Amino acid sequence: MCGIVGYIGKRDTQSVLIEGLKKLEYRGYDSAGIAVFTPEGLQITKSIGRLVNLENKLEGAPLVGSAGIGHTRWATHGKPSDVNSHPHTDHTQKFSVVHNGIVENYLDLKEELMDQGHVFVSETDTEVISHLVAREYDGDIVKAVQKAIGFMRGAFALGVLTEYEPSKLVAVRQASPLIIGIGEGENFIGSDIPAILEYTRNVYILNDGEMAVLTEDAVELMTIEGNFISREMIHVDWDAVTAEKGGFDHFMLKEIHEQPKAYRDTIRGRVHDNGRQIDLKELNITPVQIQNIRNVHIVACGTAYHAGLVGAKVIEQLVRIPVASDVASEYRYSSPLITPDTLVIVVSQSGETADTLAALREAKAKGAHVLAITNVVGSSIARDADDVLVTLAGPEIAVASTKAYSSQLIAFYLLGMYLAQVRATQTEDDIAQMIMALNALPEQVESMLENSDAMKAYAEQISHHEHLFFIGRGLDYAVAQEGSLKLKEISYIHSEAYAAGELKHGTLALIEEGIPVIALVTQEAVLEKTVSNIKEVKARGADVMAISHEEHIAGLLKSVDQAFAIPKTLPLFTPALSVVPLQLLSYYASLARGNDVDKPRNLAKSVTVE
Ligand code: F6R
Repeated sequence: MCGIVGYIGKRDTQSVLIEGLKKLEYRGYDSAGIAVFTPEGLQITKSIGRLVNLENKLEGAPLVGSAGIGHTRWATHGKPSDVNSHPHTDHTQKFSVVHNGIVENYLDLKEELMDQGHVFVSETDTEVISHLVAREYDGDIVKAVQKAIGFMRGAFALGVLTEYEPSKLVAVRQASPLIIGIGEGENFIGSDIPAILEYTRNVYILNDGEMAVLTEDAVELMTIEGNFISREMIHVDWDAVTAEKGGFDHFMLKEIHEQPKAYRDTIRGRVHDNGRQIDLKELNITPVQIQNIRNVHIVACGTAYHAGLVGAKVIEQLVRIPVASDVASEYRYSSPLITPDTLVIVVSQSGETADTLAALREAKAKGAHVLAITNVVGSSIARDADDVLVTLAGPEIAVASTKAYSSQLIAFYLLGMYLAQVRATQTEDDIAQMIMALNALPEQVESMLENSDAMKAYAEQISHHEHLFFIGRGLDYAVAQEGSLKLKEISYIHSEAYAAGELKHGTLALIEEGIPVIALVTQEAVLEKTVSNIKEVKARGADVMAISHEEHIAGLLKSVDQAFAIPKTLPLFTPALSVVPLQLLSYYASLARGNDVDKPRNLAKSVTVE
C-alpha cells in the first residue's frame, strides 16, 4: 500500500503535493518523492525515509511548476532506497509515473524491455510502467497509457505525466483506490479523500478499469479501453479527522474492513497455472532444501504468535512435518534444538519486534534457514532473514492488530500449500480446491462485515462483565486465543481462552451463573465434542454465544443462548473468517466501555525492547 497524489492548476504545486503526502503518510513511509513540470522540464526529487527528508531536500531546491505527482512508499518490490522511490521515469526522462499496487508480470516485461535496449536503474515494478509508457508513446499520452496497461497484469493506481503534454495529468485505477478531486481551474488525484480535502470536497470515485484525463479546466472519465463515461460527482462532508480514517470512527474499524483487500493483495501474483499452483518465486529456499526439511519452528510474539499457532496446524496438516510454535521471548533463551534441516519461521507485522529479531538471530546462529513473514519489507527482520514472505496488509495504525494477523494466516496458507506442492504431500486437485476456497475468502469476509450489527449488540451485552471465556478445539482454540487477547488489550475485560476439552481439568471451577462463554464451533471433526463442553458450562450457568457455520446454527441454538454464523469454507481456512466477529466484538466492547480503541493503555504498536 502506497499513497499517490497529483495536481494540475495555478497553486504552488509542490506544497499541494507535500500537504497531500502528509495525509497519505499512513499508507507508507519508506520513502517519498514528487515530480513537477518546471520551466526547465519535468523534474523529480525523492528521498528514502519519512516525508520530512523529502521536505528537507526540497527546501534548498524547490520545484516550481504548474502540475505534478507525488508518492509515499510502502516497499513491496525493491527495498526502501532513494533509487527505488517514486516517481519513476524512463531512460528519456520525459515520462514520470507514481504507482500504488503491484505489477505481477513486471519481471517478464522488464526482460522484454531490456532486450529492446531499455536501461533500468531500480528494482521496482513501477519503473517498468514508465518504460512501457515511453515505448508506446506516439504523440498521445492517453493512448500510450492505455496501451501500456494492456501489457500489465496486477493491481495499480497510477498518476502519469509527460513533458510532451504538460497540460495533462493521466490517472488510472485497476484494483487500487484512486479518487479525482474537482476544483475551479484546478484538479487533483489522490489515493484517498484526506489527500485533497483541504482544496476541494467535490470528487469522482474511479472504479476498477477506469481512467481520467485531467487538465486545469476539465476532467474526462473513460474506461481503460477508451470509452467515455459519466459519473455523478460526490460532495464529501466529512471533517478532516473522519476523512483520515476513511469515514470510520477508528483506525481499528477501518483496518478490520480492509481485510478483504489485504487478503486479495497477499494472494495476488502467488497463484498460477489457472488456479492450480502456488508460486512463491520470491523465496530463496530451493526445492531440495524444502525436501530436506525435518522440522519447523514458528516463533513470534502476541498476535503474530497466534497466527503462528494456526500456521503450525496448517503446515502439519498439509505437509506432514512436525511443527513447534513458541513465543519469541521464550524461544530465544530456550537453547532451541535446531539442525541445518530446521526451517524457522518468524512472524512479525512490524518486522522490528526485539524478541522476534533476537530469536531469528539465535536460529540463524544455530544454522537454521529462517523465513520471515512480515508486513514491512525493509524492516530489520526482513533484512536479517534468509527468506521473506511479505503480507500485503498495508500499514497498520491501530495498536490492536487485525488485518496484519489475518494476512499472516493467508501467508501461512500460501506457504503450506507451496511446501505441500514441492514435497508432493497434496495432489494437484487438492491444491486447486484449496486455491478456490482461498480466493473466496475476501468476499466471505465482506459478507460478514455487512452483518456486523449482531456483534455490536453482543459486545454491548458483555461490556458490563469483568471476566469471560473463549473455548474451542483445534484451530478454533488457536483463534480463541487471538480473540481473547484482542478483547483484553482494548476492552480491558479479563478473558481466558481454553481448549474446550481442558476446562474440566480445573478452570471449570470459575464458571458461574451468567458468565459469558464464547464457543468457536467450526471444526466439523470435533463439533460434537465441543458441543459436549458447551453443555458442561451451560449446566453451571454460563451464557454461551457460539460461532459456527450457518448449517449448524439451528442445532447449536438448542444448547447455546445465541449464535453467529460465518460462511462455509474448508476447515483449515475457517480462522481467516472466524476471527472477524471476534475482532468486531473487541472493538465494540472497547467502544461501549469508553476506551481509547486505537491506543489502548500501556501498549505500543511496535515493541523494540526486550
Ligand atoms: C496485539 C498486537 C501485538 C503484536 C506483537 C508482535 O494486537 O498487535 O500482540 O502482535 O507485539 O508485533 P509484531 O507483529 O510487529 O512483531
